[in-house]
Amino acid sequence: MLNIAVFASGRGSNYEAIQQKIDKGNINGKVVCVVSDHANPGVFERAKFRNIPTHTINRKQFKSGDDYVEKLLNTLADYNTDLIILAGYLKLIPTPLVNAYPHRMINIHPALLPNFGGKGYYGMNVHRAVVESGVNVTGITIHFVDEKYDNGSVILQKEVKVEPGDTPEMVAEKVLKLEHKYFPEVVRLLCDHKIKVIKNKVVIENE
Ligand code: GRF
Repeated sequence: MLNIAVFASGRGSNYEAIQQKIDKGNINGKVVCVVSDHANPGVFERAKFRNIPTHTINRKQFKSGDDYVEKLLNTLADYNTDLIILAGYLKLIPTPLVNAYPHRMINIHPALLPNFGGKGYYGMNVHRAVVESGVNVTGITIHFVDEKYDNGSVILQKEVKVEPGDTPEMVAEKVLKLEHKYFPEVVRLLCDHKIKVIKNKVVIENE
């Protein structure tokens, strides 16, 4: 059973999708804490409802970057965290954290990386850019986290069509459906140790 820490900045619908699969016993893991850079994000309500501890940890609360990183690392260690899931977390993960959890930290991005990713590409900005560019497919990317935004090895990508006349809101809705379906699935596979990294390439074992 893996101990999972979820990092989220907002409403937490992806956290909810994962937690519901856990509650049903479909994932061999449990969420031990939810961490946010915000004081009272929607995701905290969802966690508190299940008595899961929440922590606000923001660089601005600390005198130095080292103190901030130490707080993050200590909090994760306090819960014997095995796996970190970034589910709508908007801050860059400090390098010492990336190094402490090699191939044990994943993120979901609401587009097909390497397109429409990196600094500034979050939330509706992504879907607006997709619609403005005129591409006819978009999708989701679930990837391991490294020290750059939206940059680590890709675990899974799924596509969805962008139809003529789709608004960014319509695209967001289609993409979110994919997120809620596949993010819990990747978490399940990770908790079953079915995802390996061999020479920087992610391999998903057959079940
Ligand atoms: C999702 O679109 C996710 O891909 C992105 O941020 C959004 C978070 O949504 N990284 P929610 O907070 O999980 O509802």
